[in-house]
Amino acid sequence: MTKPTVAFAADHAGFELKNLLRDELKAQGYGVLDLGTNGPESVDYPDFGRALGEAVAAGKAGFGIAVCGTGIGISIAANRIAGCRAALCHDTTSARLCREHNDANVLALGARLIGVETARDCVKTFLATEFAGGRHAGRVAKLGQTA
Ligand code: RB5
Repeated sequence: MTKPTVAFAADHAGFELKNLLRDELKAQGYGVLDLGTNGPESVDYPDFGRALGEAVAAGKAGFGIAVCGTGIGISIAANRIAGCRAALCHDTTSARLCREHNDANVLALGARLIGVETARDCVKTFLATEFAGGRHAGRVAKLGQTA
């Protein structure tokens, strides 16, 4: 099966974890779209969350991975874009359920709060889990009605 393109975005607090996850997915055969940032200089997470949300909503990538210090700011920014459903996850159960129940298309991670292994497991679970549909489909559709 063809692997989807995954877009990445981070601020200065998240760029190292973002780069690590990007390189690992690329090595696994995923297409990657890196929207920055790529260095430790201080930047504003809303700019990168917006760019990621817009890329995913426009279909430039099937999924997105957003990283900032807590994952909170960049997920809020991404979720302001219609069609983007970003889920902040700290564990694999959340990473599974945000796909099964919410059809999340962006995984947000807090680089200052979780370790690399947990982040890797969240990414693996997020990308491997299908939306369950059924009773969840109408609820996800309602998310698209709130602007
Ligand atoms: C940057 O210092 C930090 O505020 C940012 O990475 C993020 O945690 C915001 O939600």
